[in-house]
Amino acid sequence: MSTIISTVVIFSILAAMLALILTLADRTIGNYGEVKLKINKDKVHVVEGGNNLLSTLRAQKIFIPSACGGKGSCGYCKVKVTEGGGPVLSTELPWLTKDEIKSNVRLSCQCKVKQDIEIEIPEELFNVREYSTYVVKMEQLTNTIKHLRFDLGEEEIHFKPGQYVQLKAPAYEGSPDEVYRAYSVASSVNDKHAIELLIGYTGGIATTYVHQHLKKGDSVHINGPYGEFYYHEDDGGPIIFAGAGTGMAPIISILQYMADNKIHRKAVFFFGAKTMDDLFLVDRLKDFEETLYDFKFIPALSREESPEWTGERGRVPDSISKYVEKGSNYSAYLCGSPAMIDSIVHALTEKDIPLEKIYYDKF
Ligand code: FES
Repeated sequence: MSTIISTVVIFSILAAMLALILTLADRTIGNYGEVKLKINKDKVHVVEGGNNLLSTLRAQKIFIPSACGGKGSCGYCKVKVTEGGGPVLSTELPWLTKDEIKSNVRLSCQCKVKQDIEIEIPEELFNVREYSTYVVKMEQLTNTIKHLRFDLGEEEIHFKPGQYVQLKAPAYEGSPDEVYRAYSVASSVNDKHAIELLIGYTGGIATTYVHQHLKKGDSVHINGPYGEFYYHEDDGGPIIFAGAGTGMAPIISILQYMADNKIHRKAVFFFGAKTMDDLFLVDRLKDFEETLYDFKFIPALSREESPEWTGERGRVPDSISKYVEKGSNYSAYLCGSPAMIDSIVHALTEKDIPLEKIYYDKF
């Protein structure tokens, strides 16, 4: 009996010592202290080591695009790390090309700051700012899509039509961490003291916050602008817009820009939805048919059974096949899910529209 008791005591002491060693190791290994973060060869920030590069930069008010909130699942947060980044992690590999790996490009949300580190980022990211806004309008457009307007007060935002911002969803009951998510701006570039977004409910952390917790009058942090998807002034020629759901947001901003600047380009907008209940902002788009130089809005419904619907039926690529002439000199702006965009790109290339004139934003 006494042998069993002493064995149990010895094991308990060993377990306690092991736990102590692990705790001390964690504190020592996890504590990297202050390290130097050098940006674009000249700006040096002294930062606390131990966090990922994305959040370390954010703490310095330098905002890197990130559509997934740092989960390693969007590939937006690429940064060139020329020194001190350590080896590329397996979580980064699906998002990096061979050339990017050779050029030291990393996913900043996966790369941990453990020692002095040197990075290169595009200069325009220094113009990205964080805005303290409050909700002045919140309208339910469909069962799942809300139209929100955020007032920036005295602050001004300058962006290109088509670009996006990131909205911060703070911690709320059931979601302990704050997250950032990307949403295209739906408002006019001339509306400098406000931002409008279309936010669809997906059940994710940020859309649950917006749809179930956020109220009119609440304050919200937004940073931006970001993105390579924007209206190209120098293209000339007619334009095809195509999208579905909240993919309408950047297209509305571009159409408003064309209206404000009296741009004389023929344009057509193919919009995909399931049923009539999924259509929204139709009056606004009909208004564009009146005000723009030569614009047509063509919604296509894939699952509408009612004979009341007299418009297009089927998917957007079907409408493109039907209405777009082969060999035309269109450029195209697409916004929607990856699968939808791939099918539209296929339909456009069948019409001989060159890939370099097809701009898209997959979300
Ligand atoms: S933030 Fe999405 S992959 Fe890094």
